[in-house]
Amino acid sequence: MRLDPRFALRVALGTLSVAADFVRGRPRPFVVNHLVTVRCNLACPFCYVSGPEQAEFNRAHYPRSAEMDTAQMLAFYRQLVAADFKIAIVLGGEPLLRADFGELLQALAGRLYVTVFTNGFLLEDRAEAVKDATNLFVSLDAPDEQHDELRATRGTFKRALAGLERVRRQYPKVKPAVNMTVTAKNVHRVREMLAFARELGVPIGFQPPSYEGQFTVGDRPFATSATMTPQAQAVADAFRLIRDAADRGERVIGSREFFTHVIENRPTYPCHYPSSVLGPVFPNGDVVACTSSRVIGNVRRTPVAALVQSRAWLDNCALGPACAKGCRDWGIHDLSAVRNRRFGLGDARRYAKAFVTAG
Ligand SMILES: C[S@@+](CC[C@H](N)C(=O)[O-])C[C@H]1O[C@@H](n2cnc3c(N)ncnc32)[C@H](O)[C@@H]1O
Ligand code: SF4
Repeated sequence: MRLDPRFALRVALGTLSVAADFVRGRPRPFVVNHLVTVRCNLACPFCYVSGPEQAEFNRAHYPRSAEMDTAQMLAFYRQLVAADFKIAIVLGGEPLLRADFGELLQALAGRLYVTVFTNGFLLEDRAEAVKDATNLFVSLDAPDEQHDELRATRGTFKRALAGLERVRRQYPKVKPAVNMTVTAKNVHRVREMLAFARELGVPIGFQPPSYEGQFTVGDRPFATSATMTPQAQAVADAFRLIRDAADRGERVIGSREFFTHVIENRPTYPCHYPSSVLGPVFPNGDVVACTSSRVIGNVRRTPVAALVQSRAWLDNCALGPACAKGCRDWGIHDLSAVRNRRFGLGDARRYAKAFVTAG
């Protein structure tokens, strides 16, 4: 194991303090989900953040000129540390497009558990920028050049792998993983991806594509196109394979509860995301309510501590347990599974195995 004992202790104590608040009936947000940019160097046809359908909306609402600058980002991150946040999920768009990305992560290093998502296209050249991440997810949607087709850019597969290897070589403290977005075009390749991740020696996560109504772009629900939407039966079959692999002890990310949720295509669960997670926080500082996609505040104007006491924030929290979206995303779902006590010891072991042991 290559875990820094002081960091492990900090995480363990933080987890206990969050759990104590939960038991006392005072759940508080301890995760931030931050889109540092919505700009992207790829244009994946299934993407709800930066795909081709979002380009116009993003240009109008989140142009580069409206992004928080380095000083504003650092001020925000310092507030997260002061407010005792425990986990930062940092993504985009493509986070490596920000020249200051390494500096931003440095502000969180050793204080929050930092998970970064990247498409890996720039990773080999910019490996140093992610050296302070705890976990690094590199998106990989196929075990070969089909990935390039899915990501609409030639060379992506090779570059993502080269980047991942560079990080492993140079920054062994960073725990790498891959994340496959399961669409109609690759749902039949899940078994191969399990084998590919095994060969690489890294954990793997699987996400079915978001469905209509899960996310909104402005006032318009984002719908994965018909050509990219897999049949429900194909998704169920694929997630059965994934659940079996996890049961065999393979390094698959997600709880058993999550795999079953996807297999059974359950419509909903009492969601704790709104009260546990600050975000999504957009590049201009807007905090968007996941239940309604309305802006409920801006971290540039309102201190984090005040924002999470505001009426708009509390109203969004109140909607969580009744939210009928039932998002099919291991990150979102499993937070609720923990809070709903549907997250077993086996799941905890699986997470430890996937994330804590060296990749
Ligand atoms: C929005 S991207 C941002 C980070 C980076 N650009 C990347 O591709 O990894 C984060 C993850 O969301 C996944 N994703 C994008 N669109 C999705 C959708 N419609 N449904 C489910 N996951 C999606 C991506 O494949 C990626 O693994
Ligand atoms: S690389 Fe990531 S952010 Fe960019 S379009 Fe693809 S999934 Fe979306």
